[in-house]
Amino acid sequence: MTDLVVISDDGPVRTVRMNRPDKKNALTLPMYDAMAAGIENAPQNPALRCLLIAGAPTVFCAGNDIGDFLGMAMGAGALGVPILRFLYALARCELPLVAAVQGNAVGVGTTMLMHCDHVVAADNARFATPFVGLGLVPEAASSLLAPRLMGQARAFELLVMGRPMDAEQAKAAGLINTVVTADAVEAEAMQAARAIASLSPQGVLASRRLMRGSSDEIVARIDEEAELFKTRLKSAEARTAFEAFMTRKK
Ligand code: COA
Repeated sequence: MTDLVVISDDGPVRTVRMNRPDKKNALTLPMYDAMAAGIENAPQNPALRCLLIAGAPTVFCAGNDIGDFLGMAMGAGALGVPILRFLYALARCELPLVAAVQGNAVGVGTTMLMHCDHVVAADNARFATPFVGLGLVPEAASSLLAPRLMGQARAFELLVMGRPMDAEQAKAAGLINTVVTADAVEAEAMQAARAIASLSPQGVLASRRLMRGSSDEIVARIDEEAELFKTRLKSAEARTAFEAFMTRKK
């Protein structure tokens, strides 16, 4: 079976690639675990200076697997432990995070970018967080990070009203840095990662820490959101939305 997450180190850059294109890179619990491990154990390779999160050629990530959400809604109603592990790994990661985005970035596909330091996106990228429409609340500390990044008005439109952003809107909002054609995204992102990796390692780490502030604050918000998410997952609204997606006719 093909690995659903592929971790590869190339000199100072580690790529953490989501690789479930047939399901638009919807993230399952084992995928979260694999991505979390790829971030957490980066310090074991002292050559690494930067991490690059990437998706498939046509899609970045369709968010959490909705079948898994349905399973959680029918079960204990808690966010799976691997999801929290991945979100904590993002929040606590010391190395700079770069992302290469093509096509759809939905739900956590968008909120994980709020933890990244540099995002390169294709002109076909589309960012959406349909949490409220699914009966849920924002996660991944996006309720804290999105207003900081783009201001309350744009964050509300994205996170609560569920209005998607195209690449140019995302750039204007400060969610991403660069828009290029789809065939140039990976090379551009790798070049940015290598440029970061060529800087003074201690200077980058110290500057990044100063700019990001306390990771404890971010982790606390992840926990606060997760508590609310738990309640929302069990709601009739959420279950109906998940079932509608799983049984939709195309
Ligand atoms: N969970 C589970 N399966 C998903 C999925 C998700 N989040 N997103 C896509 N898939 C599956 C589809 O069910 C479909 O499976 P099938 O081929 O077995 O029927 C396959 O991936 C392809 O998806 P499809 O919808 O046909 O692709 P598309 O290019 O037309 O649309 C999206 C892509 C991302 C816009 C659309 O799939 C979508 O809206 N997905 C749900 C996103 C979402 O709400 N995520 C949760 C956020 S909190």
